[in-house]
Amino acid sequence: MSHAAPTAASRGPREWTPEQRAEIDKILTRYPTKQAAVMPLLWMAQDAWDWLDLDVMRLIGRTLDIPPSQVHAVASFYTMFKKAPTNKYLVQVCHTLSCALVGADKIVAHLEKKLEVDEHGNSKDGLFTVMRVECLASCGSAPMAQINEHYYEKLTPEIVDQVVDAIRSGRALAEPRKEADQWTFPVS
Ligand code: FES
Repeated sequence: MSHAAPTAASRGPREWTPEQRAEIDKILTRYPTKQAAVMPLLWMAQDAWDWLDLDVMRLIGRTLDIPPSQVHAVASFYTMFKKAPTNKYLVQVCHTLSCALVGADKIVAHLEKKLEVDEHGNSKDGLFTVMRVECLASCGSAPMAQINEHYYEKLTPEIVDQVVDAIRSGRALAEPRKEADQWTFPVS
C-alpha cells in the first residue's frame, strides 16, 4: 500500500462544494467581518485538500474578498497550517525553550534515525513527516510532540518507539494515558 502524499493534480479542483458553501455561510454569521473568518476557512480547506497550496489560498481570498497574500500571511504564521504536502502522520516536535532544555533535540534525533527521514523530514516508509515547531503550549509536559491532532507529552526515546510501532502496526492513533507515572497507549 502506498502512503504517498496526494499530488496537486490528484487533489481535485479548488472550489467549494455546495455543502462547504453552506458551512461557510454559517461561519460568516459568527464574525464581524468576512476577513475575520480566515482561520476557520483555512481549517476547512486543509480538511478538504490536506494542505494549503496557492490555489487554495486564492480560493479563500476570493471567498472572503481579501488578497491571497493576506491569507498566506495568516497561514504562514501558524505551524498547524500545512503549506506543503506531508505524509499521513505529521510529527511536530516542539523545540522551544522548555522542550529544548529537557531533550527535544534527542527526541528529534531519535525520530529521524528510527524513521530514516530524508532532508524534507519524510520517513522512508512513507508514513511520517517529522518537523520542528515552536511552542505548542504544553510546556509543563516537555518534551512533547503533536502527531496529527494528538499531543504526546513527557516523551522519551522509549515512548517514541511505542508510539511509532503502534502506528506502524495499524493500531489506532490515540491519546496516551498516564497511569502511576507510566504512559500507556490505547490500542484498537
Ligand atoms: S516549549 Fe514546548 S510546548 Fe511550550
